[in-house]
Amino acid sequence: MSKNKSKRGPGCAKFLARRRCKRIIYRQSRLCPAGCIGKIFCPFLISMANTILIGMQWGDEGKGKIIDVLTAKSDIVVRSQGGNNAGHTVFHRGVKYVLHLIPSGILRRGKMCVIGNGVVIDPVALVAEVDGLRQLGIKIDKKLLISDCAHLVLPYHRILDEQRELRRGRIGTTKRGIGPAYGDKAARTGLRMSDLMQPIVFSKKLQAKIIENNRILQALGAKSISFREVNESYLAAGEKLRPYVANTVVYLHRAMERGKKILFEGAQGTFLDIDHGTYPYVTSSNTTAGGACTGTGVPPHRMDRVVGVMKAYSTRVGDGALPTEDAHLAQMLHNLGREFGATTGRKRRCGWFDAVASRYAGMINGIDEIAITNLDGLDHVDPIRVCVAYRLYGKHLDVPPCDATQLANCEPVYEEVSGWNTSIHAVRKFSQLPAAARKYVRYISELTGGKLSMVSVGPARGETIVLSRTG
Ligand code: GDP
Ligand code: IMO
Ligand code: MG
Repeated sequence: MSKNKSKRGPGCAKFLARRRCKRIIYRQSRLCPAGCIGKIFCPFLISMANTILIGMQWGDEGKGKIIDVLTAKSDIVVRSQGGNNAGHTVFHRGVKYVLHLIPSGILRRGKMCVIGNGVVIDPVALVAEVDGLRQLGIKIDKKLLISDCAHLVLPYHRILDEQRELRRGRIGTTKRGIGPAYGDKAARTGLRMSDLMQPIVFSKKLQAKIIENNRILQALGAKSISFREVNESYLAAGEKLRPYVANTVVYLHRAMERGKKILFEGAQGTFLDIDHGTYPYVTSSNTTAGGACTGTGVPPHRMDRVVGVMKAYSTRVGDGALPTEDAHLAQMLHNLGREFGATTGRKRRCGWFDAVASRYAGMINGIDEIAITNLDGLDHVDPIRVCVAYRLYGKHLDVPPCDATQLANCEPVYEEVSGWNTSIHAVRKFSQLPAAARKYVRYISELTGGKLSMVSVGPARGETIVLSRTG
């Protein structure tokens, strides 16, 4: 022991230990529910691991597959934003499931699934999704909760979305009515699940909204909609959903008090975020990490880590810039039967990995861990290009510009790395990946700035290489 440490005062071992204890107690007082404060070995602190999972690109990064893997170590899976514009694919026992509104955790036994207040719900589509899963033998009862504060997507939202897509300035939306529904929410004229649970209140509000929207539809040259039909179908869907509707904020907080682990399932991706994405070619919600808090009522200090999912290359469906877009890469992937939209079936546009975008996504979301998917998509590509910077009007850029036209004019600056020219879908250990594949994933995670924790080499649950503790 050094002379200094044997002394009393700031340098001594006892002093340091006491200071560490104080720090732990201080953290607990922030993190623990009532009753735990002051107990050093608080089980809540030890077991708490709330994880936000975020798409780091333009959506369809393979979030569904990674959620399914992470659900094994979670108790509750929560959707916090978006609606049935999402399409999350999970392969389980050879069956392909595409989840649109229901959290992907529904496929695992004993896991609770919550649709949070930030989601916009088309009740008729949700009932169809519940029925579809039931037909495939998936149990839903007592596993699903829906926030009473979630806003509704109504038929006039879908028609308005379709009508806007026919005109100049189209976005290439999924035509699910998402933008108009969030528009009503922001304008404070939306209807919510709580309205649907009160048939008289709902019908009254719906009638006024339909009168107003029929005038707009008429002006756009679209067919008007019938109050009677919408009222009937929505009330019928509402009755089917009634057993699941609750105050999900209270549910989640009580679950956290019992030490339950929550997984926040992001929908869409960082560059489709209404604030940080490639506006106006974005969706209408906050797809980035902050959306998990506002969309569920779980405060930021209760979040333990953020896992970012990114493909080993880039894809985008819909309009807007994709700086690294490459027609040859797209053709190669489409010829393999890959990269077709899970919601609309549209061909996804494809491009090289864009580290300018992924680095920015790392910054906005505070990414702790990275999961790289679809590495096997590059099995026979050699050389592989990686965009490390943009060039705009002769200037070098390290971050994407805010302006859509400027982004569209950005030229990618590429570096080339060697491919591995062999199939990797049977690999289960990182050390067994070809050296070039290991080098590639390390390179793109370093450029992004997060810890590489998973590499996915196929769509199935087992086709995953786990590098570090993920749960
Ligand atoms: P999400 O919206 O982010 O959940 O992604 P989607 O489900 O829309 O699209 C991802 C597609 O990639 C789906 O078809 C998945 O089954 C598939 N997928 C995910 N990870 C892998 C992988 O590592 N390899 C292959 N071949 N397919 C993958
Ligand atoms: P997941 O969760 C990919 C895109 C649409 C369009 C834009 C706006 O499966 O990753 P919207 O219908 O939301 O108003 O469309 O956003 N988009 C997605 N692209 N994956 C998604 O979800 C998407 N959800 C919306 O193509 O460009
Ligand atoms: Mg998808």
